[in-house]
Amino acid sequence: MKHYLSINDIDSVNRWVEDALALKKKPLAFKKLGRKRTIGLLFFNNSLRTRLSTQKAAMNLGMKVMIMNFGKDGWALEFEDGTIMDKGNAEHIKEAAQVVSQYCDILGIRAFASLKNKEADEAELVINSFKKYASIPVLNMESSVGHPLQALTDLITIEEYKKSTDPKIVLSWAPHPKALPQAVANSFIEIMQLKNANFTITHPKGYELDPKVTKNSRIEYDQEKALKDADFVYVKNWSNYKNYGKVINQDKNWIITEKKLGNAKFMHCLPVRRNVVVEDAVLDGNQSLVIEQANNRTFAAQIVLKKMLETLK
Ligand code: CP
Repeated sequence: MKHYLSINDIDSVNRWVEDALALKKKPLAFKKLGRKRTIGLLFFNNSLRTRLSTQKAAMNLGMKVMIMNFGKDGWALEFEDGTIMDKGNAEHIKEAAQVVSQYCDILGIRAFASLKNKEADEAELVINSFKKYASIPVLNMESSVGHPLQALTDLITIEEYKKSTDPKIVLSWAPHPKALPQAVANSFIEIMQLKNANFTITHPKGYELDPKVTKNSRIEYDQEKALKDADFVYVKNWSNYKNYGKVINQDKNWIITEKKLGNAKFMHCLPVRRNVVVEDAVLDGNQSLVIEQANNRTFAAQIVLKKMLETLK
């Protein structure tokens, strides 16, 4: 595996989950694999979990880690080919990607959707430009349309906590005051499809995600019906896809409560707004898996990095 850019880069989902859970038991089992390797992590957006868990995963594999808050500290990048750079952008992606490739063996990139220009976001300009001009493998730490490290984490957590072979898993939209990307929901849906899971998506009418992502996944507009007898309820807000990046509904009736959760486990990628997306009682109760999900970010990143290291010459 050269790059890890989307769920499509997982060649055997069951084996990856098994391997990640084995790494969780023995995190230092491959501590010599990355001994002479360096990972560079470039953040164009904020992060707590992705930054620290990817760093921890790399350290568990014996790698050196270099981190840069590129959005704040780097030169503003120009992505257009053949442009006259007489405005704000000081450095072209062509040089930046080649320069970083000399310092590192693997390059992680976080670059969120702008939510202003659907076409540009779907083209994944930042991460695909690094992929194009860098000479080293690229790791997606959340791009415009996907968060494949998070989705792998989520599946690992479900496999760890499931009590039946085919649990009912529901992805529920929840209200949020700000416009958020669709990346987490997209990758979660894709990994549910890859796993052929018993899976339902629920959201208010008008909040349909990209049909190229949802494909034939079950969509139920009645949240109560969707949540009935669920084993896992994954909650996430996303902004509107059709009316791109807009918040058209903040219906408080979609907040997740203890009553709605029933006997299901509660999942969220974090960070989460308490008593907006989900009430305190759920997050503080013993059905919440959010802290364990955050823990599993390390082992998802570790299995991905292990596979990338194994393909380096
Ligand atoms: N879930 C997640 O990616 O968290 P951070 O944004 O804090 O990295």
